[in-house]
Amino acid sequence: PTALAGRHFLKELDFTAEEFRALIELAAELKAAKRAGTEQQYLQGKNIALVFEKTSTRTRCAFEVAAADQGAHTTYLDPVGSQIGHKESVKDTARVLGRMFDAIEYRGHGQGVVEELATHAGVPVYNGLTDEWHPTQMLADVLTMTEHCDKPLTETAFAYLGDARYNMGNSYLVTGALLGMDVRIVGPRLLWPDDTIIEVAQHLAQTSGARITLTEDVKEGVRGADFVATDVWVSMGEPKQVWDERIALLGPYAVTMDVLRATGNDDVKFLHCLPAFHDLGTDVGREILERHGLTELEVTDEVFESEHSVVFDEAENRMHTIKAVLVATLGGPPAPAPSPLG
Ligand code: CP
Ligand code: NVA
Repeated sequence: PTALAGRHFLKELDFTAEEFRALIELAAELKAAKRAGTEQQYLQGKNIALVFEKTSTRTRCAFEVAAADQGAHTTYLDPVGSQIGHKESVKDTARVLGRMFDAIEYRGHGQGVVEELATHAGVPVYNGLTDEWHPTQMLADVLTMTEHCDKPLTETAFAYLGDARYNMGNSYLVTGALLGMDVRIVGPRLLWPDDTIIEVAQHLAQTSGARITLTEDVKEGVRGADFVATDVWVSMGEPKQVWDERIALLGPYAVTMDVLRATGNDDVKFLHCLPAFHDLGTDVGREILERHGLTELEVTDEVFESEHSVVFDEAENRMHTIKAVLVATLGGPPAPAPSPLG
């Protein structure tokens, strides 16, 4: 068993900075092993439940491929295909799934649900995104940052532009604070993280040495940044009516080539957890863009498709980092086979 055996991953701060960095290192090792064709399977015979109350492409596929690579089996429960939350309580669901599965992934609305699952399941529970946090995404983003920047994390600066009052903004703020990074949250004050989260981040910074900036000023916020990140302006589960307000508030915070130039860093890289509204590629996107006479939202197509963009490395890294979480909490090198001679 590993040092993290049996642990939940419900939010970034479930792990210490040292544990978080160890998961990044393990993910890098697993990625290299997969590429070299030398991956060892540490999860043979394990069963993992994947409960999704919101839709997903990356997170679901990352869990399924990571588990399959490691010899584990997954069962996917879609937003309507189980009894959870409507016909059966979260507490009962947790106790049922905990009897059958070795671990449970949960994506849904309130953080309280994933916390309750963890309280009653008796097996590790992983947060695959809630309204408040997206912790497995943070592992992928940090791995991607280490791959694309030679500096140690404590010397790396990133600016997150946009809606910072939801999972991605919250998660970036506390993760950067935990790891001692130079964190800039750039957006309208109305959409900054809740004060309690800012206080937690500032408290973490006292020991980690993180530099934390919250600003409404794009130029000040991105100056000298190694990475510029953004996310959709309206998240899953939010009512469609907020689009108009968000477009008005966040228009100045769209990531354009001018924003990248304002970093003063020719090598600046662009991150986005995806899915992104950068073209007319989605039905929701098309309707909103046409109504506002816009062609792009949180990021321009030019930035998204530029050499600065590392979003597909980031997407791939969801799989390697989720695999690291599974191996660290459920696996470890298999015990040596018993000798037939006893
Ligand atoms: N980034 C992310 O979580 O993507 P999905 O919603 O496709 O899982
Ligand atoms: N903030 C986005 C992230 C998607 C991965 C959402 O919650 O929809």
